[in-house]
Amino acid sequence: MTGPLKFRNGVFTVLQVSDAQDLQYVRRTMLWMLERAYDRVKPDLILLTGDNTLGNHFRDALPVVSKLTVNTKEKEFRAMQKALAYVLEPIAKRNIPFAMIYGNHDDMNEITKEEQAEIYRDYPGCVGLDNPDKSVDVDTYNIPIYSEDGSRVAFNLWMLDSAWTDHEQKRGFCEIKPETTAWYVKTAKALAEENGGAPVPALLFQHVPLRETLRLIEECDKAHGAVAQDGKYYRLKPDTHGVMGEYPSVCDTDAGLFAAIKQNGDVKAVVFGHDHLNCFEGRLDGLDFIQTASASFRCYGSPHRGARVFRLYEDGRYETEHLRYFDLCGKNPVSALRYLWDADDVWKIKAALLGTLATGAVAVTAAAAISRKMRNA
Ligand SMILES: [Fe+2]
Repeated sequence: MTGPLKFRNGVFTVLQVSDAQDLQYVRRTMLWMLERAYDRVKPDLILLTGDNTLGNHFRDALPVVSKLTVNTKEKEFRAMQKALAYVLEPIAKRNIPFAMIYGNHDDMNEITKEEQAEIYRDYPGCVGLDNPDKSVDVDTYNIPIYSEDGSRVAFNLWMLDSAWTDHEQKRGFCEIKPETTAWYVKTAKALAEENGGAPVPALLFQHVPLRETLRLIEECDKAHGAVAQDGKYYRLKPDTHGVMGEYPSVCDTDAGLFAAIKQNGDVKAVVFGHDHLNCFEGRLDGLDFIQTASASFRCYGSPHRGARVFRLYEDGRYETEHLRYFDLCGKNPVSALRYLWDADDVWKIKAALLGTLATGAVAVTAAAAISRKMRNA
């Protein structure tokens, strides 16, 4: 286990990786991109903010083969361990502390959240997953960041569960549970009391966006970049910066979390994953709303794939920037070819390219055969 996290020279750097969402056969380009992010940013903490695996596809990751070889809970657990090792070992190799929350895909299998938590805890850099309050999910907890002298909690990171599967009902939920909101309110008050009555500055991470995210968008005419939903078109409001590639898929309910956050006054920004094509920063009622695009190359995505940096300052301020694949890996033929090889969203280009190459190969073979025949005639 790692010791208490502390500011150094007034700064603490967090790297958010959301929706890594891969399997026991990983797309290597995502790992390449993430390793570049770790080496460039040199974060003090990495946060995996849900859909850390494509949890519903271990048993059919490869046609036929996986169905035959991953056919028990134990084998599914081992497949999950392997998928997570691809993500966690590069972090462990660099001795960077990390923490996680689950997304909707993580819980779509027979492995319980508690059992999955053991895989993360096996890595010495694992932070959190330590909430003694069992009224909330295992991935609901907070991470205190101490002042450089260790005398006080200078910043706090909330990690809240927002997605799970009811395995009996065979139904997925994207919600903040009432008990999660209640735990947040109770714990924020306790932290403020320890801080002389003042709220401790915080960022709050949950996988599925809060419902209020929909207040950041507006209906518009059909135009380039507008997102279609139920026969209407939408775009980000002018004061929200970034890209919206899909209509936000928000929590079914939020159990009063937004109101509680405003009342407590501790949270500077709420940060989400889940919507792979969305990457933006907006503001509502004095609270920053931050959406981070997915990292996964296995699942749907866009060239906004990447990771988000948060620089926290000991005086309570923070800054953020999103680093995309081509920012991290450079715009060059190698990075372009690797993107093309592994990214899910360019399959049409890939198919066209392979078709052209196959046609070219057939044409060259045919020309060679004809020329051989003519020489022999
Ligand atoms: Fe996802």
